[in-house]
Amino acid sequence: MSLQEAFEKTKKELTVTPEKLNEITNHFVSELNKGLSKTGGNIPMIPGWVLSYPTGDETGEYLAIDLGGTNLRVVRVTLLGNSKFTYESEKYAIPGPMRTGKSEDLWNFIADSLDDFVKIQYGSAKLNSKLPLGFTFSYPASQNAINEGILQRWTKGFDIENVEGHDVVPLLQKAIDSKNTPVEVVALINDTTGTLVASKYCDPSTIMGLIFGTGCNGAYYDICKDIPKLEGKLPNDILNDDSPMAINCEYGAFDNEWAVLPRTKYDIQIDNESPRPGQQYYEKMIAGYYLGEVLRLILLDYYSQNLIFKNQDIKPLQVPFAMDTSFPSRIEEHSATFVEKLFLDSFNIKTTEEERNIIHDLCLLIGTRSARLSVCGVAAICKKRNYTSGHCASDGSVFNKYPHFKERAHEALNDIFQWNTDPKDYPITLIHAEDGSGVGAAVIACLTEKRLLANKS
Ligand code: GLC
Repeated sequence: MSLQEAFEKTKKELTVTPEKLNEITNHFVSELNKGLSKTGGNIPMIPGWVLSYPTGDETGEYLAIDLGGTNLRVVRVTLLGNSKFTYESEKYAIPGPMRTGKSEDLWNFIADSLDDFVKIQYGSAKLNSKLPLGFTFSYPASQNAINEGILQRWTKGFDIENVEGHDVVPLLQKAIDSKNTPVEVVALINDTTGTLVASKYCDPSTIMGLIFGTGCNGAYYDICKDIPKLEGKLPNDILNDDSPMAINCEYGAFDNEWAVLPRTKYDIQIDNESPRPGQQYYEKMIAGYYLGEVLRLILLDYYSQNLIFKNQDIKPLQVPFAMDTSFPSRIEEHSATFVEKLFLDSFNIKTTEEERNIIHDLCLLIGTRSARLSVCGVAAICKKRNYTSGHCASDGSVFNKYPHFKERAHEALNDIFQWNTDPKDYPITLIHAEDGSGVGAAVIACLTEKRLLANKS
């Protein structure tokens, strides 16, 4: 087989037709419903305990932290009402080994960073009461209340012992208290829920909050009476009326039973070699943590067939995750000649013109597949909730940085909904979200305070 023939075969495998998009979306809708049922399904569909829509009039000062894939972000947000806010923030890089290190090290690192931030922001001023903090924890965590989160399982390459199955709020609170930092964790929030609420605070046409980043997930508002698994967890008057409830879908777990996704041998290899095989099938095909790895595995496969990088030592490329998502993303953004320098500088590999063109085209296919598969979750939520128009507030490195992601996603949405209009008139669009982990966490903390006060009176 020639390199060109191998590429044509890969192209076929990575191409998602409109028919396939529809098949996936229809199965997705039934899986979303299953997740809300009493017995549950593969998609966790976690109630986020945000029981009202923001109005834009919320006010107050809040702290927020966001434990993302790569950084810890600490934010001080002032909600001014009228959909306005101000904020100050600081980023603290999460040391690489911590992703798979010890639980106490993680909580101490967060508490130390928070303490540092509070000292910078408030100096040594004695505070009258503890500062309320919204904790954005972007992993599947079950919640029976807004201020708890029992980690179901780590995702996105995190693998820290003794956290799965535990409520992360007291773990963090204990570390904060040990530094005598005057902060109380009042709400635990998924990044998608934060994105949904922050964007709705500013734009009432927001219908969902989406992250296309290191991981991939979405949140939307459902109605309590349509969520069978809430029975027994809420007073009957709320259960039976039209009260909204934010749902963190955790749809990265979609199709863990492998019914519809067009998985390639590369996707299967990524899953097998991951710390949690059999989980997050959908996410592993589309999210930023994995896109560079898909490219790397394809190239290694071609190399093993002596089709590419002939007679060269490619050891640096044989290291797992040697290419992060910035590789395919930058390669797509630049012309094929960019590949020459990139491969020489990063891996000491020389490329021929044909190889460079093929690598460039592979990145195009990987990015397009990611965008097209990614919108199946979006379309499924729209179908489930009968949304025919609205803004899908989107954030994350893939959405923000991967070239053409948004256009490709819109094209795929049109393949599903057949709007037959000019792209600028599509009724459902992905738009850039407001800051979910800062503003969203603050608005949720504020809505929670209001609800608790209302319950007391
Ligand atoms: C992973 C996490 C999920 C998060 C998403 C985006 O899927 O499990 O909680 O929302 O990544 O960060």
